[in-house]
Amino acid sequence: MQLNVLTLPGDGIGVEVTREAVRVLEAVCRKFQHTVKLTEGLLGGIAIHKTGQAMPPQTAELALDADATLMGAVGLPEFDEAPPERRPEKGLLGIRKILGVYANLRPVRAYKALIDSSPLKNHLVEGTDLIIVRELNGGIYYGTPRGISGEGEEERGTNTMTYTRAEIARVCRMAFNLARQRRKKLTSVDKSNVLETSQLWRRVAVEVAAGFPDVTLEHILVDNCAMQLVLNPKRFDVLVMENMFGDILSDEGAVLAGSIGMLPSASIGERKPNGAWVGLYEPVHGSAPDIAGQNKANPLGAIGSVAAMLEYSFGLTAEAAVVNHAIESVLNAGKVTADLKPAGAPLTTAQVGEAVCAAL
Ligand code: IPM
Ligand code: MG
Repeated sequence: MQLNVLTLPGDGIGVEVTREAVRVLEAVCRKFQHTVKLTEGLLGGIAIHKTGQAMPPQTAELALDADATLMGAVGLPEFDEAPPERRPEKGLLGIRKILGVYANLRPVRAYKALIDSSPLKNHLVEGTDLIIVRELNGGIYYGTPRGISGEGEEERGTNTMTYTRAEIARVCRMAFNLARQRRKKLTSVDKSNVLETSQLWRRVAVEVAAGFPDVTLEHILVDNCAMQLVLNPKRFDVLVMENMFGDILSDEGAVLAGSIGMLPSASIGERKPNGAWVGLYEPVHGSAPDIAGQNKANPLGAIGSVAAMLEYSFGLTAEAAVVNHAIESVLNAGKVTADLKPAGAPLTTAQVGEAVCAAL
């Protein structure tokens, strides 16, 4: 098979972790006799510096042409004071929207070897295996009206959280389908005691459930969910929620996995005529400017995102399993970066990448 993959390393540690992810992608393709055709594009702060735009039109074209896109991270401190319109993050929101990747899958697993890396008690974390399905193309991230207007005491910031029935239904269907392949339990997260968007969300989730009688649906309020995630994470299988709730709760998931550097993500949209999903793959972590360029970022979230890409965009489940297995064996051997607090000396980003390739 030929895999046409666009890479968007982006900013900060995005560059380092993407390099290792690509190395693993090339190694697994060699092993299974696939060919990879890589193209690199600009996104985020680096794109603003080079072209004036966080998502230059050429990047959008490249992404639409590729079979799948592998992203690093975006964000640079020099844009901290800039308005949302002129920030690197705008590029990420742009690419998610242009690809129509409305479901962001963020799996959280507590690997045995990492139990002690979590600040939570072992018995709480052990056995955690959940997936957050975050709506990614709508909600308050994209809603209008938005902006800052007026002056003095009357100066006002506005954002809008809005969802249509169709937007809610499609992401719920995706989550139900996932739950069906797992432990058949779906938790829909909302704030229906306060927000109308959440009331509609809950109603639509119940309607979609009618098509999935084999899956149990429960509802939970987002504040309670934040608490349950650290009190009893094992009670969750698949969770589905709107965009900003998913952004927030998925960082909490990082505490269960031991480090945010561990978390991969797959953002998927419609199926293409050949049955593959349109996909954008990126680690959950950000660009971490404080450790950028130091060769110490954890590349396993990015490498896990390669596994997700093989599975969802190319249907290569055996190849994906081999990558995930290699990640696990590297963890078991204690060959990890500093964030995972190894007993011995921590490995560099590149050494972890090498170790995963060797384990393949
Ligand atoms: C994430 C990130 C992004 C988001 C930022 C960088 C715009 O936090 O992917 O979780 O909020 O979606
Ligand atoms: Mg986030």
